[in-house]
Amino acid sequence: MHDNPIEADVVIIGSGAAGLTAALHLAGGGLKVLVLSKSDISAGSTAWAQGGIAAVLDEGDTFESHIEDTMVAGAGLNDRRTVEFVVENAPEAIERLARLGVPFNPGETVSERWHLTREGGHSARRIVHVDDATGWAVQKALERAALSTPGIRFLPDHVAVDIITERHAEGRGFSARRAMGLYALDRASGHVRRLVGRAVILATGGASRVYRFSTNPDGSTGDGIAMAWRAGCRVSNMEFNQFHPTCLYHPQVKNFLITEAMRGEGGILRLPDGEAFMERYDSRRELAPRDVVARAIDAEMKRLGLPHVLLDMTHLEPGFVEQHFPTIVKRLSELGVDATRQPIPVVPAAHYTCGGVLVDLHGRTDLAGLYAIGEVTQSGLHGANRMASNSLLECLVFGASAADDILSSFADTPPPAPIRPWDESRVTSSDEEVVVSHNWDELRRFMWDYVGIVRTNRRLERAAHRVALLRQEIADYYGEFRVTPDLLELRNLVEVADLIVRSARERKESRGLHFTSDYPETLAEPRDTILYPSLGG
Ligand code: FAD
Ligand code: SIN
Repeated sequence: MHDNPIEADVVIIGSGAAGLTAALHLAGGGLKVLVLSKSDISAGSTAWAQGGIAAVLDEGDTFESHIEDTMVAGAGLNDRRTVEFVVENAPEAIERLARLGVPFNPGETVSERWHLTREGGHSARRIVHVDDATGWAVQKALERAALSTPGIRFLPDHVAVDIITERHAEGRGFSARRAMGLYALDRASGHVRRLVGRAVILATGGASRVYRFSTNPDGSTGDGIAMAWRAGCRVSNMEFNQFHPTCLYHPQVKNFLITEAMRGEGGILRLPDGEAFMERYDSRRELAPRDVVARAIDAEMKRLGLPHVLLDMTHLEPGFVEQHFPTIVKRLSELGVDATRQPIPVVPAAHYTCGGVLVDLHGRTDLAGLYAIGEVTQSGLHGANRMASNSLLECLVFGASAADDILSSFADTPPPAPIRPWDESRVTSSDEEVVVSHNWDELRRFMWDYVGIVRTNRRLERAAHRVALLRQEIADYYGEFRVTPDLLELRNLVEVADLIVRSARERKESRGLHFTSDYPETLAEPRDTILYPSLGG
């Protein structure tokens, strides 16, 4: 069965903060936009964000201070131009959200418009939030606005497979290298459709589900990074996967985040005997950057053979804890933990992908017509370690700047060529789904064990061998059987695992989130790891 292509001016893959921000700007400029989500439109990381969004909003705070904090957290690997660009555009981005109706918590004094909380690495209170469920409020406000904008059409339950380029054009008359759309699997029909447009935006989020333990929703499988790589774009700094220090440790609930704002408001990390151990590691204690706190927890767990450490809020007024963290207190209470009276068991878990598709300040990738925004990118903002609450901000700022670039160049962009339908003639349904689930499990386990918080050459070498084997097996399977959502995600996960391991092996130093016992020193000169695709592959 071959459907007619679905056409739009711009096709956006992803309906989180980045994708919806771009959609609203593009539709505001008069373009027709198609927004794809691989499942429900609210299912990305955005809706799960807790702590808030960083911006200089307090009179005593400065752009320079936000910039310096971001560079310090990023261990000097950040691109200062990008950091300045994002920090200076932050207050306007927050205003836009407020205009869309995001109910940021009001200030507690007359001079404070919004309440500003604090998180690791920030030297000032600069994080606006909606209680401890900021992401949900942001996601819903953006969705409401997009759903009531006539130029925006949503296409949920469609899994993007690959970017359409000139290689997929019908006939041979079209040779200019550019993105013209994508193939996407319609979950309902099981068929792959063509979605075409003059520009494509990847807003597909991160890849933290490549690890066994993660704070992320199921869909964070690095699809955009893998698609851009296959389409010939450079990918950078993939060794820097951020492990959040405090994910709930619970036998049934594996990916519930305990926000860093709890430490920002006075939470203390303790060992089972009550020792507050962070002061042994860093003078900033609980509010040191995340890489430092996660490594300290990991070291204590390994030293004492502990399954978890504890986050203690019991010295704070119970009313204060309940008022500031209502969602977390309620969820913990459902799980039998009273956070106002008992310390919370916590472990580090994979949280954020600092590396990704290399982009400029307009989200332009190496492929004409293909843009990338949000967590899927390496824009230069985060360097070797993202500072808390800078990522929703990046989505908002780059969503707008990519849209501006598309709007200003749209009239000069050629329409897409006729595109070949997806060839389904040679594939049959698999009778061995177990291969997919087994490989999925194996991949995440060895990534956790060998490419986790502390790395060594031997572990990375082991991981590289396993990635190579899995990659071949999955490629064979992909060539033989009809595509399914799980197979597509696994194919992308193994691609991303390969990029992470290759990047980690290239870095002969420890910096930020990449710590290896074989090269514990930090080199004087910070350098990005940049991987170059081979288009024949
Ligand atoms: P996402 O919001 O993840 O959206 C990705 C979209 O892409 C989804 O719509 C998905 O369906 C779609 N998609 C992906 N692959 C495909 C495909 N193949 N086909 C079709 N669609 C696809 N950051 C902060 O700044 N402050 C915080 O307080 C904060 N708290 C966090 C708490 C948690 C628990 C987590 C997990 C993250 C948190 N972060 C926080 C990080 C932040 O939420 C994310 O970096 C950000 O939301 C990413 O937004 P995005 O638009 O790039 O992607
Ligand atoms: C948190 O609330 O701890 C997450 C903040 C972030 O990841 O930026």
